This record gives sequence, C-alpha cells and structure tokens, in this order.
Amino acid sequence: MRRPLIAGNWKMYKTSAEAVDFVRQLAPLVNGVNDRDIMIAPAFPALEAAAAALKSTAIALGAQDLFWEAEGAFTGQVAPRMLAACGCRYVIIGHSERRQYFGETDETVRRKLQAAVQVGLIPVMCVGETEKEREAGQTFPILDKQLQNGLKGLIADDLASLVIAYEPVWAIGTGKTATADQAQEAHRFIRSQVAQLLGFPLADATRILYGGSVKPENIAELMAMADIDGALVGGASLKPDSFSRIVKFS
Ligand code: 13P
Repeated sequence: MRRPLIAGNWKMYKTSAEAVDFVRQLAPLVNGVNDRDIMIAPAFPALEAAAAALKSTAIALGAQDLFWEAEGAFTGQVAPRMLAACGCRYVIIGHSERRQYFGETDETVRRKLQAAVQVGLIPVMCVGETEKEREAGQTFPILDKQLQNGLKGLIADDLASLVIAYEPVWAIGTGKTATADQAQEAHRFIRSQVAQLLGFPLADATRILYGGSVKPENIAELMAMADIDGALVGGASLKPDSFSRIVKFS
C-alpha cells in the first residue's frame, strides 16, 4: 500500500516570516492526520525558519530545487547537503517552470536526482506534457522520454524513496485540471514505464502525485484513482485553509 503524500509547492511566494505564520496556522488544522504524509516546499530563504516552526509537527519540509555538485564555485546555487542540513526531507526536481524558464533538461534532472538520493533527500521528479504536445498525441512519448532520460543510469536501490509528480503543463495555474480519468491514464503509463526501467517492485512502491490546479473540490475524485498517490499543489497550498482541506481529503 502506498502512503498518500500531499505536498505544497510554494514557488516564489512567502518570506520566512510568512512561512512561519503559515505553519502556525496549518499545524493545528492537520493535527491528528497520521495516515498520509504532508510536505511544504518554501523558497530557499524561508527553509530554515520553516524547519524550526515545523519541529514537533508531522509536516515535512522540502526544497524546490538543488544543484548537483557537493560544493564549489557555483554562484547562486544550493548544494544537496545544505538542504539536508536545513532540515529538508524532500526536494522537487525538474518542475516544468524550471524546464521552461531556467534551462532545466532531462539531463540536468538526472544529475539532480542522483545528487539528491546520495544525501538521502527524497526526490520529487516532475514530468508532464505541454498543451501542444497533448494535442499532437505526444503525451506518452514525452513522458517516456522524460522518464528514460531522467532516470538513466540510476538503479532501483538508489531510488527506493522515489516520488514522481505528473504535472500536465496545461493544467498548472490555469484552473484547467486534467480529469481524473486523464490523470489516471497518465499515471498508469508512468508506472508501467518505471516498471520497465527499474523493475516492478520499485514501480509498485513509487508514489505518483498529480499536480495542476488541485483544489479542495477536486482532490477526492483524483485520489480515488488507483495510480494517483497524492498531489503536488501550487496555488491552493498557499492558504492554510485550502491546503488543510486538500490534506484532509476523504
Ligand atoms: P497549481 O496548483 O497552482 O496549478 O500549480 C501546480 C504546480 O505547479 C505544483 O508544482
């Protein structure tokens, strides 16, 4: 049985003071929820303060990106062990906004995945097709390419904690959610590709999150699908009320 994971990707929102305020409001709202994992991913400057505020809660901390080198002259970059030292358990890798605006490729995703697992961070590897690709019938080939190239050279033993997020680019921040059936179809395909690449036991254990306009109103329908194991939430993760309602889906 895969344990559900509801994760909030805060993108470029919230200072450290705002993050602490959010945690203070969220913690009591999700107190006692212990049959699913919860994670929030603030921006780098808010990680340390968020980690302190999250102590004695069951909410985990994640980062939104990392660099693959352990240290060195790489101005502006953040190393995997710096995130671990800040209290991060998770790291989001290859988000479509990073692919779109910051030159992230399947190859940089692969290097980041490798670096994350080396220091024990749980990688949340993002994949997903654009609207144009979906309309051209390219959804599966695109997912296949992102998975094959992103996971190349990695072995199942290194990826025991792997989380994949399926985020159709056309559904991010647009209010257009993939239907539960569309999402399930993509998730089932992703799991079958992971099985081919890394074996069935790993594919069966890998949590696959859906991301793209997830809200309190659509989470239950998505979570009812066999291969949807959680959600990576953007906009609706910024308010304690809506995020807690997503966390507490039933
Ligand atoms: P929205 O939930 O705002 O559509 O964003 C999804 C996302 O990109 C999460 O990583």
